Amino acid sequence: MNGIRPISDPSKPKVYIETYGCQRNVNDSEVILSILQDAGYVLTENMNDADVILANTCSIRDNAEQRIWGRIDQFRLQKRNREGVVIGIVGCMAERLKDKLLEKVDLVAGPDSYRSLPQLLKAITPETPQINVLLSHEETYADIAPVRLDKNGVSAFISIMRGCNNVCSYCVVPYTRGAERSRDPYTIVNEAKVLYENGYKEVTLLGQNVDSYFWKDAERPDRNVNFAQLLEMVAKISPELRVRFSTSHPKDISDEVIYTMALYENICKHIHLPVQSGSSVMLEKMRRKYNREWYLERVAKIRSVIPDCGLTTDVIAGFSGETEQDHKDTLSLMEEVVFDSAFMFAYSERPGTLASKKYPDDIPYSLKTERLNEIIALQGRMSLKSNEKEIGKRLKVLVEGPSKKNQKELCGRASSNKMCVFPDMGEKAGDYCEVEVVSVTSATLICKRI
Ligand code: 5AD
Ligand code: SF4
Repeated sequence: MNGIRPISDPSKPKVYIETYGCQRNVNDSEVILSILQDAGYVLTENMNDADVILANTCSIRDNAEQRIWGRIDQFRLQKRNREGVVIGIVGCMAERLKDKLLEKVDLVAGPDSYRSLPQLLKAITPETPQINVLLSHEETYADIAPVRLDKNGVSAFISIMRGCNNVCSYCVVPYTRGAERSRDPYTIVNEAKVLYENGYKEVTLLGQNVDSYFWKDAERPDRNVNFAQLLEMVAKISPELRVRFSTSHPKDISDEVIYTMALYENICKHIHLPVQSGSSVMLEKMRRKYNREWYLERVAKIRSVIPDCGLTTDVIAGFSGETEQDHKDTLSLMEEVVFDSAFMFAYSERPGTLASKKYPDDIPYSLKTERLNEIIALQGRMSLKSNEKEIGKRLKVLVEGPSKKNQKELCGRASSNKMCVFPDMGEKAGDYCEVEVVSVTSATLICKRI
């Protein structure tokens, strides 16, 4: 594996890429750029001088896809104005819609086909658009050193697995990203080491369901690696390198993972634990394979071992058949847990999913929105409550850079992932600072220096 890769060389064909959706897609764009760089392309941040225009897309909700259709129309204007421009759709929407996209673009490539991008691009002519949407049981891009697109050089994402074996009934991801496969742990540790040697101070291990990470060593079963062991291997690189991970699944997060987190100061005390609903009836229909009590037990376990652990979640409002009582169960669970923050969505039926076949999308849009707004308002109060508990605490913060609101202040995250702002005393991005929380908003901890 090589070091951190440089980005530009003006004499080569230029590729422009827009990334939609989750962090996994951000990481995939880095892999795509690495593959294209090896094939002689360079990155441009200006669509107007690009030879190849790509969108790395998301299918999770209908509105995500609608936005991308709008972008495709804008890309097509570039094609009309400049000869030879090629436009491509890659990622989840490419996988879901396949040749339906070929009427509009020259290239369609699914999440497991990025190694073939150079050949596909070469083969494109005005009459022959190219498509590769084969899903793989093996592809993890383990040997590819991603081009780092993050600008600050402090925090990077490392993909530890791909795909998903859960069949949450509402979710399109198993169909767009295929079956779950874990990446060789030694390549993961190596990637993290290279980042650390290049000045990075934080890595986030990414997977659809990190708790089911499992590397089977074909010859030596004693060398199998589970997620807790992987976390430990990465944490041991250096106490100065912070380790985060996302996403955890409530049915799979093990005591071993929780104890491993507690053991290493540099494993950040934050768990993103999507609950989706507080109603066991909805959870059953969603095929989440846990119920309300199980979820609350996992939260209790986390807090008994790591009292200050940051906890965030995802919530869906208005899933099929959701009654007023189910909705109230979600609100009461949120009040009971007091999450630091949450991603909150109205249910969007996705074609091909189990729910689309089995359960009618029967909650009217207006009611979904009403419930979602209630959830958002409650979370605002819970975020404030959660932050108020931090007042007076001393925290170790990793500096990200100047605060957006006030250039005389710095901002950075505490181990819990909470955003802190504090007076600038000349530190740079990547330095650690000790601060004390003096006041809070629902989004930020306002701190003084100590
Ligand atoms: N509708 C609304 N939200 C969804 N999510 C996944 N699928 C859907 C859907 N069909 C949400 C879940 C998941 C997050 C990434 O997106 O909350 O955890
Ligand atoms: Fe990420 Fe899911 Fe969107 Fe794909 S569909 S980009 S996996 S959020």
